Amino acid sequence: SQKRKVDETLSPFRLSSEQLQLVKARMRAGLEAGLKREGPSEVKMLPSFLYSPPDGTEHGQYLALDLGGTNFKVMLVNFRKGLHQSSQVLHKIYTMPLEIMQGTGDELFDHIAECVSDFLDYMGIKNDRLPAGFTFPFPCEQTAIDTCKLVSWTKGFKATDCEGNDVVSMLREAIKRRNEVELDIAAVVNDTVGTMMSGTYEDPQCEIGLIAGTGTNVCYMEELKNIKKTGQKKGPMEREEGKSGREENKQEDGTNGETEQEKADIQKMCINTEWGGLGDYGSLDDIITPSDVEVDHNSINPGKQRFEKLTSGMYLGEVVRQTLLDLTRAGLLFRGHVTETLKTPGIFQTKYLSQIESDRLALLQVRSILQGLGLDSTCDDSIIVKEVCEAVSRRAAQLCGAGMAAVVDKIRENRGLDHLNVTVGVDGTLYKHHPHFSEVLQETARVLAPQCNVTFLPSEDGSGKGAALITALTRRREEM
Ligand code: BG6
Ligand code: GLC
Repeated sequence: SQKRKVDETLSPFRLSSEQLQLVKARMRAGLEAGLKREGPSEVKMLPSFLYSPPDGTEHGQYLALDLGGTNFKVMLVNFRKGLHQSSQVLHKIYTMPLEIMQGTGDELFDHIAECVSDFLDYMGIKNDRLPAGFTFPFPCEQTAIDTCKLVSWTKGFKATDCEGNDVVSMLREAIKRRNEVELDIAAVVNDTVGTMMSGTYEDPQCEIGLIAGTGTNVCYMEELKNIKKTGQKKGPMEREEGKSGREENKQEDGTNGETEQEKADIQKMCINTEWGGLGDYGSLDDIITPSDVEVDHNSINPGKQRFEKLTSGMYLGEVVRQTLLDLTRAGLLFRGHVTETLKTPGIFQTKYLSQIESDRLALLQVRSILQGLGLDSTCDDSIIVKEVCEAVSRRAAQLCGAGMAAVVDKIRENRGLDHLNVTVGVDGTLYKHHPHFSEVLQETARVLAPQCNVTFLPSEDGSGKGAALITALTRRREEM
């Protein structure tokens, strides 16, 4: 029957618990291999040079430049010190046109400089030379908190002459070329790191940052003793293993005057896992479906970010579209009629997945969404389309949950604990706007990591606030 044939097409998307356990194990192996740095690893595990969480004494005004997944956001963040620590965030959002994302590096950074200059003008703070934090959500080799060599573009970016270069220097040069404003870039962070820091500001148990949006990635606090030294130059926030920067505070007991909490904190560094790369050397080949293969082939970075292409907003719509194409070609959908619309890459954006899967939506409304996309559907068609969307997004959330289970168990084992309570700061349009993603993610993590109690804390102001906090920390440390 038709139903059976549709089920057959969708069955590779429906992962068994054994398969999810395997994904968890492979993610764990990726984390370990990346930390060892003995050769290329699917999971890059990049040091962020961020050691300590905020302690609530941060104060002052900072700028944050947040080159997120869907927008470029410039923010002015004001931290007020005191018992009721608080922050105020003012921001302006700028679009990032495709021709800029995929033009030259100079054009990209000139555009960023132009937006910053516009923002400072708008806020009337052009001459203030505020310290700035830069959220740059791509894999980077950092040698300090304010240096950031782009390893490779991901998501929709492909600007030339950037890979292998320090993006902070590129931004500084663009600001200089513009010769209108001065900018003191104190820190550069991945969006996961910024998101984790925003979370830590509210909940000290927040030691993980997750993005489930255009792309997907995780960072977490790893023990310094597990991080292989890379022989890089020291940054303002780097210290020798186990030492604090407060040598001048030497106490009689041989300590440096840190509190117990501070001592524990400086044993850790935040690692940007870049878990989206899992599968790049084939470790996910047994779960990859023909639709995933197509999506990868048609992307701007074939063979790269295989886990990301199964799990994040930029790709889920395309996985759905490829599957709809297969079903149509098999005569199971749209009366077997493959239209030009269905062949158009990108028509099925993730926001439509979110709408179609909404429980509140009647089938008639699903049909009208499809109609709006130029796809004429019968009632049966709309049921099948909804099923495809559900299979694809459920798998995405489960895979993220399996990855998360690997991360929390790693943290738990690091500490030799039977049970771990941990909070994950989280952001991204998929997490925030999809009707089921967050609950499936949470449930999968719970089942696959039964010894951990994982709380997800959605970020309020994006990762820019975290970047501003890190800037505050960096500046304070330099003053000490
Ligand atoms: C934003 C953060 O809120 O979420 C960004 O401030 C982040 O730093 C983004 O990159 C991720 O979501 P999306 O869906 O835009 O990729
Ligand atoms: C991509 C980037 C990564 C980022 C993530 C979420 O995976 O490589 O650095 O954190 O997208 O935006």
